[in-house]
Amino acid sequence: MLEKQLVGQKAVEYIEEGMIVGLGTGSTVNIVLRELGNKVKQGLKIHGVATSKFTEERALELHIPLIDVADIDHIDIMIDGADEANDQFNLIKGAKGALLREKMIATSSTHFVVVIGEQKYVHKLGAFPLPVEIVPYAWKVTIRQVERLGCRVTLRMSESDIPFITDNGNYIIDCHFNHIEEPSVLSTQINAIPGVVDNGLFVDMADTMIIGKADGKIEIKEK
Ligand code: A5P
Repeated sequence: MLEKQLVGQKAVEYIEEGMIVGLGTGSTVNIVLRELGNKVKQGLKIHGVATSKFTEERALELHIPLIDVADIDHIDIMIDGADEANDQFNLIKGAKGALLREKMIATSSTHFVVVIGEQKYVHKLGAFPLPVEIVPYAWKVTIRQVERLGCRVTLRMSESDIPFITDNGNYIIDCHFNHIEEPSVLSTQINAIPGVVDNGLFVDMADTMIIGKADGKIEIKEK
């Protein structure tokens, strides 16, 4: 928790007056939102773009002004968590199922800042199962094709024991690769399968990684 607090506080220092700010999804982003809400209360003028309904609700509770993504053509900065990250600035994302919108906003942002705890900073990606968003139609066929890439696949379920549905009305499958040797190649292979909407590999997208450590320090890696 301390790590999330530290990285959350640091991340909002990158947000400047007048910016359009992409707001990721997850518990670390919730801390960012709380800090940003305080700055807005103190007079900072920004507009946020939410990457999930969850984040949208949280931002509104904190009185962070939101702008409809359909009304803008650029984003100045995106702040988001990740499930794994490595020294090539590659990420695995999607544990909360928001990977598609997160990737769309991250790739449209001038500056993509990632906030993580040190346990998520790994040498090789893949211990964390890779989330992939797929259309519900013929989902078993899609899973079979993804499995041919060398992983075990599970369909993500919700607490009520029905398939988890993303904000875009799709399913999420979790792909257990254990080790991902070439994230860029794998990302291309997965996205070439009909039925796949997008996958949680964010290859070479992060610009800044703020890493929180258990000893209360933070490390900042700039590309
Ligand atoms: C959301 O879909 C994910 O990409 C999150 O960014 C990721 O799971 C990080 O979440 P936490 O900050 O809760 O660990």
